[in-house]
Amino acid sequence: MTRVIKIFDTTLRDGEQSPGVSMALPEKLSIARELLRLKVDIIEAGFPASSPGDFASVQELARFIGSEAVVCALSRARASDIRAAGKALVHAERARIHTGLGVSPSHLKDKLHMSEDDALSSAVKAVRLARNYTGDVQFYAEDAGRAERGYLATVLAAALKAGATTLNVPDTTGALLPEQYGELISWLLAHVEGIEEATVAVHCHNDLGMATAASIAGIAAGATQIECTINGIGERAGNAALEEVAVALQLHARELDASSGICLKELTRASRLVSSLTGMAVPANKAVVGANAFAHSSGIHQDGVLKNPGTYEILSPASVGAQDMRLVLTARSGRAALRHRLGALGYTPDKSSFKQIYHRFVEIAEKKHEVYDEDLEAIMAEYGSGLEQVWKLRILQVSCGTPLIATATVVLEGPDGEEYSTCASGTGPIDATFKAIDQTAAPQADLLRFAVQAITRGSDALGEVSVQLSDREGRVFSGRAADGDIIVSSAKAYLNALNRLLLTAGSNSKGSND
Ligand code: KIV
Ligand code: ZN
Repeated sequence: MTRVIKIFDTTLRDGEQSPGVSMALPEKLSIARELLRLKVDIIEAGFPASSPGDFASVQELARFIGSEAVVCALSRARASDIRAAGKALVHAERARIHTGLGVSPSHLKDKLHMSEDDALSSAVKAVRLARNYTGDVQFYAEDAGRAERGYLATVLAAALKAGATTLNVPDTTGALLPEQYGELISWLLAHVEGIEEATVAVHCHNDLGMATAASIAGIAAGATQIECTINGIGERAGNAALEEVAVALQLHARELDASSGICLKELTRASRLVSSLTGMAVPANKAVVGANAFAHSSGIHQDGVLKNPGTYEILSPASVGAQDMRLVLTARSGRAALRHRLGALGYTPDKSSFKQIYHRFVEIAEKKHEVYDEDLEAIMAEYGSGLEQVWKLRILQVSCGTPLIATATVVLEGPDGEEYSTCASGTGPIDATFKAIDQTAAPQADLLRFAVQAITRGSDALGEVSVQLSDREGRVFSGRAADGDIIVSSAKAYLNALNRLLLTAGSNSKGSND
């Protein structure tokens, strides 16, 4: 039968130990509510002896959580800590006290200044005292990852005998490789007397970026409880991330012979909530919940996921409550991704206008880091109508500034395929450009309206220009265009309006280039 792995969430205790993070009761209650939606088995609510505020929070959380999860309070192996934990949990329907002490040579000698024998007897006394408050006592052997194995086994066996029901084996410093941690769990399961009666918990820190891998190795070796936090927050580099271990258990349920009761669809919401309440941003490339976790950038990948998401996704965004996959449009994107995004925006250009649109997209993508939807809207405003280009802009060069006179040199390709070059001066670069275009395309039109606005973000924003011209009969023709250079967008918008006018008039006038 598949082993059911208990998920012990310590976002409110080890997570709150993240440097710079401190949560007030309302924030803790919001996180607890989300943890219940996730269906975690145990919520470590705090360390009541650490401050009156933490004591009060654990009390409130215990009331709030009710019977939906076990509520756990941390304590050192000290009588006063254990009493505080017991008191704070008095209203909990399912209370657990988590007590323990350091067992590695470094912790015994440099932190606790205790002999092995003294630490052993403190551990036993702590568990016995905790049992006076609840039948659910978890013992932690801090820094187990660096402890001497024989001594570690002796302390864990003694804690069990004293009444502990769960044994927590923390790799407090995140020092071990996943294989080493897995091997430690196997060894303990084989050498600690009475351990088969207990739940064995893995608690891994992320100092080497391997907390999730080590936790899963511990589960593969036979442990049945994982201690973790949302977004992996916690002391220093943090703890194993709940979202990562939950998804790994789901995807590898068969090999691990294990499953958890976590509601995966809540993972994205939980991640966002914890990030906003703690102020700890989630890196874009964070597994499962990062902004890029389902974003595809290169043309080859985009083509693959559009054909079948399984080509590059091992889980669906929807399964963890994330938005659909995101195709990031950059210069590396291909036609398939552009067509897909345009389709999502409601555009289905025909083959020939798509060719122009793609060409323009590549031009913009080469200048900008990412092409946003607003950029695509601007491109579609320019090309999406499938407007025939009577006159096409080939070259535009302007010189302007103070005290210069603005001049523009324009080369247009005419309807006969020839190139026509003119030069004009004006009150500014745009005026000079329009005058140079007029000399070639001889539009017989009046400029009614000219407007420019930034439509995308940043200093590399696209500037969109809209132009209205009227012909001699008073008919009005509009043109729009966008470019990172507003002089270029002005020239293109002017030509778009002009081309409409010329097509309507049926008088594709041809100027001279000399
Ligand atoms: O990392 C650790 O050892 C701990 C214990 C208090 C369980 O957080
Ligand atoms: Zn820890």
